[in-house]
Amino acid sequence: MENNEDVLILAIESSCDETAAAVVKNGRSVLSNVINSQIDIHTEYGGVVPEIASRKHIENINPVIQMALDKANVTLDDITAVAVTYGPGLVGALLVGVAEAKAIAWAKKKPLVGVHHIEGHISANYIEHKDLKPPFAALVVSGGHTHLVHVKDYGCYEIIGRTRDDAAGEAFDKVARAVGLGYPGGPKIDKLAKEGNPNAIEFPRAKVDDAPFDFSFSGIKSAVLNYLNSCEMKGVEVNRADLVASFQNAVVEALVSRAIKLAEDMKLDKLALAGGVAANSALRNAMEEACTKKGIALYYPSMGLCTDNAAMIGAAAYYEYINGTRHGWDLNAVPNLKLGERV
Ligand code: KG4
Ligand code: ZN
Repeated sequence: MENNEDVLILAIESSCDETAAAVVKNGRSVLSNVINSQIDIHTEYGGVVPEIASRKHIENINPVIQMALDKANVTLDDITAVAVTYGPGLVGALLVGVAEAKAIAWAKKKPLVGVHHIEGHISANYIEHKDLKPPFAALVVSGGHTHLVHVKDYGCYEIIGRTRDDAAGEAFDKVARAVGLGYPGGPKIDKLAKEGNPNAIEFPRAKVDDAPFDFSFSGIKSAVLNYLNSCEMKGVEVNRADLVASFQNAVVEALVSRAIKLAEDMKLDKLALAGGVAANSALRNAMEEACTKKGIALYYPSMGLCTDNAAMIGAAAYYEYINGTRHGWDLNAVPNLKLGERV
């Protein structure tokens, strides 16, 4: 039985190609976490088709929410508040979740809490690491974002570095497509790279002048594409495992060096990884090694909580809720929502 003091959040996430709902107790205890992934549908097209994503969300959202409630063994009456990702993401996809959350909250007279998707990714770390509390450094690496964040407190973020062009996950996906691995590229590169030599090909480690915490991945991506073209022109067979291992190595090195610099410069002894690319095994291993050397405690969510899910939105929403965040019935999808921005 739930205690009256418990805060039970029904969380909804539909910012990209996963329709997800979860019930989370007091921010850190996941009672249910249901994900309906559309990956198989979008794979046919080599990437997410926004219009299809929105339509599938509409079909899936009610059964996914019902399943989340059933698995948690609760009804809507037991819920303290309804939370939903309202940005950033695909506008049509976000709108499905936002409209659903507003409808449930209004019908059941429950508070509505809008959550930033990246705040959700960072908060995924709270679920399995009960000891993790701000302040800490966070590296957010997903299909759409690459951010170095100083998490000063719950709900209080300062973005210290960001990508100037492609996101890390986007670079993984584009390189995977170029070498014929298909979508989504990250997990496929991760697997194939295990059979390759990460030092076989030297790719550029692009630095951004006067911005030591910023990233640039388009140079690495172009270098991979040029390498593929030149091999084709010379009629040389490409060792795909070596190629993706070397690409991955260049990306991982850029991520690790800046994340460690952030923790050291800001005197933070904790570093959390977040987002889909945080599932990358080479990144985890390299980060683990670097953090051990520097005496920094490293945190990352288990694989299933790295990629998009609603449990992470429920974790973030709990801290927003107890800090007093409430949204009105005019809550809208904000595709370019900035972290820390209140709309
Ligand atoms: O966080 P996420 O599920 O969605 C966004 O908010 O973007 O991240 C998806 C991204 C994709 O680009 C995918 O290729 C990448 O995360 N990804 C990985 C791995 N698993 C997922 N990248 C590298 N290695 C992985 N194991
Ligand atoms: Zn995400």
